Amino acid sequence: MTASKGLEGIVATQSAISSIIDDTLTYVGYDIDDLAENASFEEVVYLLWHQRLPKEDELAVLKQQLADNMSIPQEVLDHFKTYPIADVHPMAALRTAISLLGLYDEKAEDMSDEANYEKAIKLQAKVATVVTAFSRIRKGQEPVAPKTELGYAANFLYMLNGEEPEEIAIEAFDKALVLHADHELNASTFTARVCVATLADIYSGVTAAIGALKGPLHGGANEQVMKMLMEIGSEENVETYIREKLDNKEKIMGFGHRVYRKGDPRAKHLRAMSKKLTTLRGEEKWYNMSEKIESIVTGEKNLPPNVDFYSASVYHSLGIDHDLFTPIFAVSRMSGWTAHILEQYSNNRLIRPRADYIGPDLQKYVPINER
Ligand SMILES: CC(C)(COP(=O)(O)OP(=O)(O)OC[C@H]1O[C@@H](n2cnc3c(N)ncnc32)[C@H](O)[C@@H]1OP(=O)(O)O)[C@@H](O)C(=O)NCCC(=O)NCCS
Repeated sequence: MTASKGLEGIVATQSAISSIIDDTLTYVGYDIDDLAENASFEEVVYLLWHQRLPKEDELAVLKQQLADNMSIPQEVLDHFKTYPIADVHPMAALRTAISLLGLYDEKAEDMSDEANYEKAIKLQAKVATVVTAFSRIRKGQEPVAPKTELGYAANFLYMLNGEEPEEIAIEAFDKALVLHADHELNASTFTARVCVATLADIYSGVTAAIGALKGPLHGGANEQVMKMLMEIGSEENVETYIREKLDNKEKIMGFGHRVYRKGDPRAKHLRAMSKKLTTLRGEEKWYNMSEKIESIVTGEKNLPPNVDFYSASVYHSLGIDHDLFTPIFAVSRMSGWTAHILEQYSNNRLIRPRADYIGPDLQKYVPINER
Protein backbone atom coordinates (compact mmCIF):
# COMPACT_ATOMS: atom_id res chain seq x y z
CA MET A 1 0.00 0.00 0.00
CA THR A 2 1.33 3.46 -0.89
CA ALA A 3 -0.14 6.52 0.74
CA SER A 4 -1.04 9.68 -1.12
CA LYS A 5 0.03 12.38 1.32
CA GLY A 6 -2.93 14.65 2.03
CA LEU A 7 -5.04 12.28 -0.13
CA GLU A 8 -3.91 14.32 -3.14
CA GLY A 9 -5.48 13.07 -6.35
CA ILE A 10 -7.68 10.52 -4.58
CA VAL A 11 -11.30 10.38 -5.71
CA ALA A 12 -13.07 9.49 -2.45
CA THR A 13 -16.74 9.63 -3.40
CA GLN A 14 -19.28 10.40 -6.11
CA SER A 15 -21.32 13.56 -5.72
CA ALA A 16 -23.92 15.43 -7.75
CA ILE A 17 -23.54 18.68 -5.81
CA SER A 18 -20.53 20.56 -7.10
CA SER A 19 -17.59 19.95 -9.40
CA ILE A 20 -14.17 21.39 -10.21
CA ILE A 21 -13.19 20.43 -13.73
CA ASP A 22 -10.40 22.21 -15.61
CA ASP A 23 -10.40 25.03 -13.08
CA THR A 24 -14.13 25.64 -13.55
CA LEU A 25 -16.30 25.41 -10.43
CA THR A 26 -19.94 24.47 -10.86
CA TYR A 27 -22.79 23.94 -8.42
CA VAL A 28 -25.01 21.22 -9.90
CA GLY A 29 -23.65 22.07 -13.35
CA TYR A 30 -24.15 25.85 -13.08
CA ASP A 31 -20.91 27.78 -13.53
CA ILE A 32 -20.01 29.77 -10.42
CA ASP A 33 -19.54 32.86 -12.64
CA ASP A 34 -23.16 32.56 -13.76
CA LEU A 35 -24.44 32.07 -10.20
CA ALA A 36 -22.29 34.88 -8.77
CA GLU A 37 -23.81 37.32 -11.26
CA ASN A 38 -27.40 36.12 -11.14
CA ALA A 39 -28.39 33.97 -8.17
CA SER A 40 -29.27 34.90 -4.60
CA PHE A 41 -27.80 32.92 -1.71
CA GLU A 42 -31.20 31.39 -0.91
CA GLU A 43 -31.51 30.13 -4.50
CA VAL A 44 -28.08 28.55 -4.17
CA VAL A 45 -29.04 26.90 -0.87
CA TYR A 46 -32.09 25.39 -2.58
CA LEU A 47 -29.97 24.33 -5.55
CA LEU A 48 -27.46 22.52 -3.35
CA TRP A 49 -30.13 20.78 -1.28
CA HIS A 50 -32.42 19.78 -4.17
CA GLN A 51 -29.98 19.71 -7.10
CA ARG A 52 -32.23 22.03 -9.11
CA LEU A 53 -33.06 25.73 -9.04
CA PRO A 54 -36.26 26.64 -7.18
CA LYS A 55 -39.43 27.90 -8.79
CA GLU A 56 -40.77 31.18 -7.41
CA ASP A 57 -43.10 29.60 -4.85
CA GLU A 58 -40.45 27.10 -3.74
CA LEU A 59 -37.99 29.92 -3.14
CA ALA A 60 -40.59 31.87 -1.19
CA VAL A 61 -41.21 28.83 1.04
CA LEU A 62 -37.50 28.35 1.68
CA LYS A 63 -37.02 32.04 2.52
CA GLN A 64 -39.90 31.85 4.96
CA GLN A 65 -38.54 28.65 6.54
CA LEU A 66 -35.13 30.25 7.00
CA ALA A 67 -36.60 33.41 8.50
CA ASP A 68 -38.91 31.41 10.79
CA ASN A 69 -36.06 29.28 12.14
CA MET A 70 -33.49 31.98 12.88
CA SER A 71 -34.09 32.39 16.59
CA ILE A 72 -31.92 30.38 18.97
CA PRO A 73 -32.67 29.20 22.52
CA GLN A 74 -32.00 31.74 25.29
CA GLU A 75 -29.77 29.09 26.91
CA VAL A 76 -27.39 29.24 23.93
CA LEU A 77 -27.26 33.05 24.19
CA ASP A 78 -26.64 32.80 27.93
CA HIS A 79 -23.90 30.26 27.29
CA PHE A 80 -21.91 32.93 25.40
CA LYS A 81 -21.68 34.88 28.67
CA THR A 82 -20.13 32.01 30.61
CA TYR A 83 -16.78 31.64 28.81
CA PRO A 84 -13.88 31.74 31.25
CA ILE A 85 -11.50 33.54 28.90
CA ALA A 86 -12.22 36.92 27.38
CA ASP A 87 -10.98 36.42 23.85
CA VAL A 88 -12.55 33.10 22.86
CA HIS A 89 -12.22 32.80 19.08
CA PRO A 90 -15.62 33.12 17.37
CA MET A 91 -14.92 29.88 15.46
CA ALA A 92 -14.51 28.06 18.78
CA ALA A 93 -17.72 29.67 20.04
CA LEU A 94 -19.50 28.72 16.81
CA ARG A 95 -18.27 25.11 16.97
CA THR A 96 -19.54 24.84 20.55
CA ALA A 97 -22.84 26.63 19.92
CA ILE A 98 -23.76 24.45 16.93
CA SER A 99 -23.09 21.35 19.01
CA LEU A 100 -25.13 22.89 21.84
CA LEU A 101 -28.06 23.58 19.50
CA GLY A 102 -28.30 19.81 18.97
CA LEU A 103 -29.16 19.44 22.66
CA TYR A 104 -32.19 21.69 22.20
CA ASP A 105 -33.51 19.87 19.12
CA GLU A 106 -35.98 17.11 19.92
CA LYS A 107 -35.34 15.65 16.48
CA ALA A 108 -31.54 15.61 16.85
CA GLU A 109 -31.42 11.79 16.75
CA ASP A 110 -34.27 11.33 14.26
CA MET A 111 -32.61 9.96 11.14
CA SER A 112 -35.63 10.14 8.81
CA ASP A 113 -35.15 12.09 5.56
CA GLU A 114 -37.80 14.61 6.63
CA ALA A 115 -36.17 15.26 10.00
CA ASN A 116 -32.72 15.59 8.45
CA TYR A 117 -33.97 18.10 5.87
CA GLU A 118 -35.73 20.04 8.64
CA LYS A 119 -32.48 20.09 10.61
CA ALA A 120 -30.57 21.36 7.56
CA ILE A 121 -33.01 24.30 7.41
CA LYS A 122 -32.65 24.94 11.14
CA LEU A 123 -28.84 24.84 10.96
CA GLN A 124 -28.70 27.19 7.96
CA ALA A 125 -31.09 29.60 9.66
CA LYS A 126 -29.53 29.52 13.12
CA VAL A 127 -25.86 29.71 12.12
CA ALA A 128 -26.36 33.38 11.13
CA THR A 129 -27.90 34.15 14.52
CA VAL A 130 -25.19 32.31 16.43
CA VAL A 131 -22.37 34.26 14.73
CA THR A 132 -24.05 37.67 15.02
CA ALA A 133 -25.32 37.17 18.57
CA PHE A 134 -21.91 36.02 19.79
CA SER A 135 -20.30 39.03 18.14
CA ARG A 136 -22.67 41.41 19.93
CA ILE A 137 -22.65 39.69 23.31
CA ARG A 138 -18.85 39.73 23.53
CA LYS A 139 -18.99 43.51 23.02
CA GLY A 140 -21.55 43.90 25.78
CA GLN A 141 -24.38 44.56 23.29
CA GLU A 142 -27.81 42.92 23.25
CA PRO A 143 -28.43 40.42 20.42
CA VAL A 144 -30.74 41.74 17.70
CA ALA A 145 -33.72 39.60 16.67
CA PRO A 146 -33.98 38.84 12.93
CA LYS A 147 -36.54 40.65 10.78
CA THR A 148 -38.60 38.08 8.94
CA GLU A 149 -39.11 40.38 5.93
CA LEU A 150 -35.37 40.63 5.21
CA GLY A 151 -33.44 38.19 3.02
CA TYR A 152 -30.65 36.05 4.47
CA ALA A 153 -27.71 38.34 3.66
CA ALA A 154 -29.55 41.46 4.81
CA ASN A 155 -30.67 39.75 8.00
CA PHE A 156 -27.14 38.70 8.82
CA LEU A 157 -25.84 42.27 8.51
CA TYR A 158 -28.85 43.61 10.38
CA MET A 159 -28.39 41.19 13.28
CA LEU A 160 -24.67 41.99 13.35
CA ASN A 161 -24.92 45.79 13.38
CA GLY A 162 -28.42 46.47 14.67
CA GLU A 163 -29.29 48.64 11.67
CA GLU A 164 -30.58 47.79 8.21
CA PRO A 165 -27.67 47.59 5.76
CA GLU A 166 -27.23 49.64 2.59
CA GLU A 167 -28.17 47.95 -0.68
CA ILE A 168 -24.54 47.76 -1.84
CA ALA A 169 -23.53 45.95 1.35
CA ILE A 170 -26.38 43.44 0.96
CA GLU A 171 -25.41 42.80 -2.66
CA ALA A 172 -21.74 42.29 -1.86
CA PHE A 173 -22.43 40.08 1.14
CA ASP A 174 -24.97 37.98 -0.75
CA LYS A 175 -22.47 37.44 -3.56
CA ALA A 176 -19.77 36.44 -1.07
CA LEU A 177 -22.19 33.89 0.42
CA VAL A 178 -22.92 32.49 -3.06
CA LEU A 179 -19.20 32.15 -3.80
CA HIS A 180 -18.40 30.29 -0.57
CA ALA A 181 -21.43 27.96 -0.48
CA ASP A 182 -19.86 24.77 -1.76
CA HIS A 183 -16.57 23.49 -3.10
CA GLU A 184 -16.59 19.80 -3.94
CA LEU A 185 -14.69 17.63 -1.47
CA ASN A 186 -12.81 20.34 0.43
CA ALA A 187 -11.36 19.46 3.85
CA SER A 188 -14.34 20.49 5.99
CA THR A 189 -16.93 18.90 3.68
CA PHE A 190 -14.92 15.68 3.62
CA THR A 191 -14.77 15.84 7.43
CA ALA A 192 -18.55 16.22 7.58
CA ARG A 193 -19.05 13.26 5.24
CA VAL A 194 -16.60 11.05 7.16
CA CYS A 195 -18.41 11.88 10.39
CA VAL A 196 -21.95 11.20 9.20
CA ALA A 197 -20.92 8.11 7.23
CA THR A 198 -20.80 6.42 10.66
CA LEU A 199 -24.51 7.38 10.79
CA ALA A 200 -23.81 10.02 13.39
CA ASP A 201 -26.38 12.84 13.46
CA ILE A 202 -26.19 16.03 11.35
CA TYR A 203 -25.18 18.22 14.34
CA SER A 204 -22.11 16.02 14.84
CA GLY A 205 -21.25 16.25 11.14
CA VAL A 206 -21.50 20.01 11.01
CA THR A 207 -19.64 20.49 14.30
CA ALA A 208 -16.77 18.38 12.94
CA ALA A 209 -16.79 20.42 9.73
CA ILE A 210 -16.53 23.70 11.64
CA GLY A 211 -13.47 22.33 13.42
CA ALA A 212 -11.83 21.54 10.07
CA LEU A 213 -12.73 24.91 8.55
CA LYS A 214 -11.13 26.75 11.46
CA GLY A 215 -7.53 25.96 10.44
CA PRO A 216 -5.45 28.57 8.57
CA LEU A 217 -4.79 26.21 5.65
CA HIS A 218 -8.56 26.15 5.02
CA GLY A 219 -11.17 28.73 6.07
CA GLY A 220 -8.95 30.38 8.65
CA ALA A 221 -6.86 31.87 5.83
CA ASN A 222 -9.15 34.89 5.25
CA GLU A 223 -8.57 36.22 8.78
CA GLN A 224 -4.81 35.65 8.35
CA VAL A 225 -4.85 37.63 5.07
CA MET A 226 -6.28 40.65 6.87
CA LYS A 227 -3.77 40.22 9.67
CA MET A 228 -1.01 40.30 7.07
CA LEU A 229 -2.46 43.42 5.39
CA MET A 230 -2.62 45.19 8.75
CA GLU A 231 0.95 44.16 9.55
CA ILE A 232 2.19 45.47 6.21
CA GLY A 233 0.28 48.70 6.85
CA SER A 234 0.96 50.55 3.59
CA GLU A 235 1.70 50.02 -0.07
CA GLU A 236 5.36 50.94 0.14
CA ASN A 237 6.02 48.16 2.67
CA VAL A 238 4.53 45.40 0.50
CA GLU A 239 7.60 44.56 -1.57
CA THR A 240 10.00 44.10 1.40
CA TYR A 241 7.47 42.23 3.53
CA ILE A 242 6.43 39.74 0.87
CA ARG A 243 9.92 39.11 -0.51
CA GLU A 244 11.20 38.46 3.02
CA LYS A 245 8.44 35.92 3.63
CA LEU A 246 9.11 34.19 0.33
CA ASP A 247 12.87 34.13 1.00
CA ASN A 248 12.14 32.52 4.39
CA LYS A 249 9.96 29.94 2.61
CA GLU A 250 6.90 31.11 4.55
CA LYS A 251 3.47 30.73 3.04
CA ILE A 252 1.54 33.78 1.95
CA MET A 253 -2.03 33.34 3.15
CA GLY A 254 -4.70 33.49 0.47
CA PHE A 255 -2.50 31.98 -2.26
CA GLY A 256 -2.23 28.49 -3.70
CA HIS A 257 -4.70 25.70 -3.95
CA ARG A 258 -4.70 21.92 -3.91
CA VAL A 259 -6.97 21.57 -6.92
CA TYR A 260 -6.78 24.73 -9.09
CA ARG A 261 -3.75 25.20 -11.28
CA LYS A 262 -4.48 28.30 -13.37
CA GLY A 263 -6.44 29.98 -10.59
CA ASP A 264 -9.46 29.98 -8.33
CA PRO A 265 -12.46 31.16 -10.39
CA ARG A 266 -14.04 32.77 -7.30
CA ALA A 267 -11.12 35.14 -6.72
CA LYS A 268 -11.88 37.50 -9.64
CA HIS A 269 -15.39 38.21 -8.29
CA LEU A 270 -13.99 39.04 -4.88
CA ARG A 271 -11.23 41.14 -6.44
CA ALA A 272 -13.81 43.24 -8.30
CA MET A 273 -15.91 43.59 -5.14
CA SER A 274 -12.85 44.58 -3.13
CA LYS A 275 -11.98 47.31 -5.65
CA LYS A 276 -15.53 48.65 -5.63
CA LEU A 277 -16.04 48.60 -1.87
CA THR A 278 -12.64 49.89 -0.82
CA THR A 279 -13.00 52.78 -3.30
CA LEU A 280 -16.46 53.57 -2.03
CA ARG A 281 -15.20 53.64 1.57
CA GLY A 282 -12.14 55.72 0.67
CA GLU A 283 -9.89 52.85 1.76
CA GLU A 284 -8.37 51.91 -1.61
CA LYS A 285 -5.10 51.13 0.11
CA TRP A 286 -6.30 47.65 1.06
CA TYR A 287 -7.13 46.85 -2.55
CA ASN A 288 -3.94 48.44 -3.88
CA MET A 289 -1.82 46.53 -1.37
CA SER A 290 -3.62 43.29 -2.23
CA GLU A 291 -3.05 43.83 -5.95
CA LYS A 292 0.65 44.46 -5.35
CA ILE A 293 0.96 41.32 -3.21
CA GLU A 294 -0.78 39.35 -5.96
CA SER A 295 1.61 40.57 -8.63
CA ILE A 296 4.66 39.63 -6.54
CA VAL A 297 3.42 36.19 -5.41
CA THR A 298 2.13 35.30 -8.87
CA GLY A 299 5.33 36.55 -10.50
CA GLU A 300 7.71 34.83 -8.08
CA LYS A 301 5.88 31.60 -7.28
CA ASN A 302 3.30 31.34 -10.05
CA LEU A 303 0.68 30.99 -7.32
CA PRO A 304 -2.67 32.68 -8.02
CA PRO A 305 -4.88 34.04 -5.22
CA ASN A 306 -7.64 31.84 -3.84
CA VAL A 307 -11.11 32.70 -2.51
CA ASP A 308 -9.71 33.90 0.82
CA PHE A 309 -7.37 36.57 -0.50
CA TYR A 310 -9.72 39.32 -1.67
CA SER A 311 -12.58 38.28 0.62
CA ALA A 312 -10.48 39.75 3.47
CA SER A 313 -10.59 43.32 2.12
CA VAL A 314 -14.25 42.86 1.10
CA TYR A 315 -15.34 41.94 4.64
CA HIS A 316 -13.10 44.62 6.12
CA SER A 317 -14.79 47.21 3.88
CA LEU A 318 -18.16 46.00 5.15
CA GLY A 319 -16.99 46.92 8.66
CA ILE A 320 -16.86 43.31 9.85
CA ASP A 321 -14.50 42.35 12.69
CA HIS A 322 -11.56 40.38 11.33
CA ASP A 323 -12.05 37.32 13.51
CA LEU A 324 -15.58 36.96 12.11
CA PHE A 325 -14.30 36.34 8.57
CA THR A 326 -13.99 32.57 9.03
CA PRO A 327 -17.34 32.25 10.87
CA ILE A 328 -18.90 34.02 7.86
CA PHE A 329 -17.31 31.41 5.62
CA ALA A 330 -19.03 28.82 7.86
CA VAL A 331 -22.38 30.62 7.57
CA SER A 332 -22.21 30.21 3.81
CA ARG A 333 -20.61 26.75 3.74
CA MET A 334 -23.31 25.43 6.08
CA SER A 335 -25.37 25.05 2.88
CA GLY A 336 -22.71 22.88 1.23
CA TRP A 337 -22.01 20.82 4.36
CA THR A 338 -25.67 20.04 4.92
CA ALA A 339 -26.19 19.23 1.21
CA HIS A 340 -23.27 16.79 1.32
CA ILE A 341 -24.48 15.27 4.58
CA LEU A 342 -27.94 14.65 3.10
CA GLU A 343 -26.29 13.16 0.00
CA GLN A 344 -24.08 10.94 2.16
CA TYR A 345 -27.08 9.65 4.14
CA SER A 346 -28.97 8.93 0.92
CA ASN A 347 -26.35 6.47 -0.32
CA ASN A 348 -24.17 5.72 2.67
CA ARG A 349 -21.12 3.57 3.15
CA LEU A 350 -18.72 3.90 6.07
CA ILE A 351 -15.62 5.90 5.05
CA ARG A 352 -12.65 4.01 6.37
CA PRO A 353 -9.38 4.28 4.42
CA ARG A 354 -6.12 2.50 5.27
CA ALA A 355 -2.72 3.76 6.48
CA ASP A 356 0.67 2.77 5.10
CA TYR A 357 2.29 1.56 8.35
CA ILE A 358 5.87 2.87 8.81
CA GLY A 359 6.42 2.00 12.53
CA PRO A 360 8.61 -0.81 13.97
CA ASP A 361 8.21 -4.46 12.92
CA LEU A 362 6.43 -6.91 15.19
CA GLN A 363 7.67 -6.52 18.79
CA LYS A 364 7.27 -8.57 21.96
CA TYR A 365 5.71 -6.94 25.03
CA VAL A 366 8.29 -6.26 27.74
CA PRO A 367 7.08 -6.05 31.37
CA ILE A 368 7.48 -2.52 32.78
CA ASN A 369 10.23 -3.42 35.29
CA GLU A 370 12.37 -4.95 32.50
CA ARG A 371 12.31 -1.94 30.09
C1 LIG B 1 -4.05 25.80 0.00
C2 LIG B 1 -2.81 24.98 0.35
C3 LIG B 1 -2.99 24.43 1.77
C4 LIG B 1 -2.67 23.83 -0.64
O1 LIG B 1 -1.66 23.07 -0.17
P1 LIG B 1 -0.99 21.82 -0.92
O2 LIG B 1 -1.75 21.41 -2.11
O3 LIG B 1 -0.76 20.82 0.13
O4 LIG B 1 0.33 22.44 -1.44
P2 LIG B 1 1.68 22.54 -0.61
O5 LIG B 1 1.47 23.20 0.71
O6 LIG B 1 2.33 21.18 -0.61
O7 LIG B 1 2.49 23.51 -1.55
C5 LIG B 1 3.17 23.14 -2.77
C6 LIG B 1 4.32 24.11 -2.99
O8 LIG B 1 3.83 25.43 -3.17
C7 LIG B 1 4.25 26.29 -2.12
N1 LIG B 1 3.11 27.06 -1.67
C8 LIG B 1 1.81 26.65 -1.62
N2 LIG B 1 1.04 27.63 -1.15
C9 LIG B 1 1.86 28.66 -0.90
C10 LIG B 1 1.64 29.95 -0.39
N3 LIG B 1 0.42 30.33 -0.04
N4 LIG B 1 2.69 30.78 -0.26
C11 LIG B 1 3.93 30.40 -0.61
N5 LIG B 1 4.19 29.18 -1.08
C12 LIG B 1 3.18 28.32 -1.23
C13 LIG B 1 4.72 25.37 -1.00
O9 LIG B 1 5.66 25.99 -0.17
C14 LIG B 1 5.26 24.22 -1.78
O10 LIG B 1 6.53 24.59 -2.28
P3 LIG B 1 7.72 23.51 -2.33
O11 LIG B 1 7.23 22.44 -3.26
O12 LIG B 1 8.86 24.31 -2.83
O13 LIG B 1 7.89 23.02 -0.93
C15 LIG B 1 -1.54 25.87 0.28
O14 LIG B 1 -1.44 26.45 -0.99
C16 LIG B 1 -1.52 26.92 1.37
O15 LIG B 1 -1.08 26.64 2.48
N6 LIG B 1 -1.98 28.17 1.06
C17 LIG B 1 -2.07 29.20 2.07
C18 LIG B 1 -3.31 29.02 2.94
C19 LIG B 1 -4.56 29.34 2.20
O16 LIG B 1 -4.67 30.37 1.55
N7 LIG B 1 -5.55 28.47 2.35
C20 LIG B 1 -6.87 28.66 1.77
C21 LIG B 1 -7.12 27.67 0.69
S1 LIG B 1 -8.61 28.02 -0.18
